[in-house]
Amino acid sequence: MLSEKMEKALNEQVNWEMYSSYFYLSMSSYFESISLSGCANWMRAQAQEELFHAIKIYDFINERGGRGIMEAIAKPPSDWDSSLAVFEEVLAHEQKVTGLINSLVDLALDERDHATNIFLQWFVSEQVEEEATVGGVLDKFRLIAEDKSGLFVLDQELGTRVFTPPAK
Ligand code: FEO
Repeated sequence: MLSEKMEKALNEQVNWEMYSSYFYLSMSSYFESISLSGCANWMRAQAQEELFHAIKIYDFINERGGRGIMEAIAKPPSDWDSSLAVFEEVLAHEQKVTGLINSLVDLALDERDHATNIFLQWFVSEQVEEEATVGGVLDKFRLIAEDKSGLFVLDQELGTRVFTPPAK
């Protein structure tokens, strides 16, 4: 059984993950509007991944005898100055999410909630991977700077991303 505090904190994380999905869908739409369909595809896959994260936590709350509460999702930004600016914001967002996951782990440890702590370890590893992936894409954007042919190639590369839900 989850404590009330843990249940509330996990529900807040569901909301963050839903917001993240919305945030990346907004970025996908921005890239569609400037005809970078590969970048749009990458963001769409990212949005699907965040939705998977939200549902994973929601399922856990219910599995532990709690109740998933759907709060309002905040409006994400919709315009950026450049592709580089978008990916810089992605990295900052993922760093923020890493901090939130770490705080959830701290709370689980404070409450001696071992099951939630074990559950959250998946997200701890996932955040390491997410930050590394986004950092890698960001490095490429910085490398190509204003080079339009470089942007064309990078867009093609980002267009190959497919989201495959991991096995539970
Ligand atoms: Fe669900 Fe990108 O963290």
